[in-house]
Amino acid sequence: MSQPQATEANDIAYCRSDFPVLDQAVNGHPLVYLDSAASAQQPAAVIDAVARYQREDHANVHRGVHTLSHRATELYEGARDKLCSFINASSRAEIIHTSGTTESINLVAQSYCRPMLQAGDQILITWLEHHSNIVPWQLVCEQTGAELIVAPINDRGEVELDELRALMTDRVKLLGIGHVSNALGTINPLLEIIADAKQRGISVLVDGAQAVPHMNVDVQALGCDFYAFSSHKMIGPTGAGVLWGREALLEAMPPYKGGGDMILEVNFEHTVFNELPYKFEAGTPNISGMIGFGAAVDYLQSVGMDNIYQHEKALHSYMVSKLKAIDGLHLIGTAREQASVQSFRLNDIHPHDLGTILDHQGVAVRTGHHCAMPVMQRFGLPGTTRASLGLYNNSDDVDQLVVALEKARQVFA
Ligand code: ALA
Repeated sequence: MSQPQATEANDIAYCRSDFPVLDQAVNGHPLVYLDSAASAQQPAAVIDAVARYQREDHANVHRGVHTLSHRATELYEGARDKLCSFINASSRAEIIHTSGTTESINLVAQSYCRPMLQAGDQILITWLEHHSNIVPWQLVCEQTGAELIVAPINDRGEVELDELRALMTDRVKLLGIGHVSNALGTINPLLEIIADAKQRGISVLVDGAQAVPHMNVDVQALGCDFYAFSSHKMIGPTGAGVLWGREALLEAMPPYKGGGDMILEVNFEHTVFNELPYKFEAGTPNISGMIGFGAAVDYLQSVGMDNIYQHEKALHSYMVSKLKAIDGLHLIGTAREQASVQSFRLNDIHPHDLGTILDHQGVAVRTGHHCAMPVMQRFGLPGTTRASLGLYNNSDDVDQLVVALEKARQVFA
């Protein structure tokens, strides 16, 4: 890992040179990558860990007596141990390897909720959720006759806590809530919300996709029942993720998918399922993805999650102050507690047009609805432009964004 490059107070782009993809020109300009909320870039340590495994150790896991299979299993299971301690789970049996946040939430909807839901029951979410924390609940509600209800947000993009509490009645069986909003960056006050829900006997699933890469997460301290997150948002490979769940709940849940590895014994009359966590991991898993995920955790820990949080917080404040100074720029999402994501509109320029002009200047942002259409509907917008920061960004990136936005403003004047 390279030394942090400090050029001024709060301008420490941790280990920027460890991320090979950042060292390139796009459309004749140095790349400015401000789309980490969609997918974060990977450091060489992650890329190398995956390549080393593919070159030297690849075999199927849990199946072979030969040396390569042992090595692959050790690396794959080593990643589970790293993830277990990274989020402070109480046991490795609670770390279910999945393809990502979306699959983790679907698993809970189908395996935990579907067997217990009855007509008249409710699943509670908030208006901030992205599609992965909406559609799995809609599907299970259709299957069971349960109802999906939604807590409103205010004009800053914060959940209306009194209204959320008022919706927590006996009918609600589960609250599905994001830790950090992908579209607006709002950090929800989870400790308080989870305590309220648990006091009313409501199970809580937290969608942590946008939180785990940016701050310390301790699932035991949070007090939730399930926590879902993805590797590719946290500088690891795509197609890998985790569902953390309380062991007693996972024990009681039926398998989500059937196949190899999730069984102890099969005959045509009956199958004995494997123990946790394997009961939920049917088929050959994404071995290289999980090994890369483990390397990403090592990397994040070597930088330090508190350092990452402080760096991104300072850079976000700097970005907001610069954006506010641009004529015609309107921030969307101004929560009092906000992570390193900022949505905005510039005059009446369509976000896709704005994103294209920015790309011509080497600046990568996300435009559109950010897989969170209800959030856009709440603000009466078809979409926004969103700049999202990672540990490798610095104030030069923000300055380049501002230069590119000023140019776009002139183009559309
Ligand atoms: N949920 C991802 C994003 O926010 C895809 O861009």
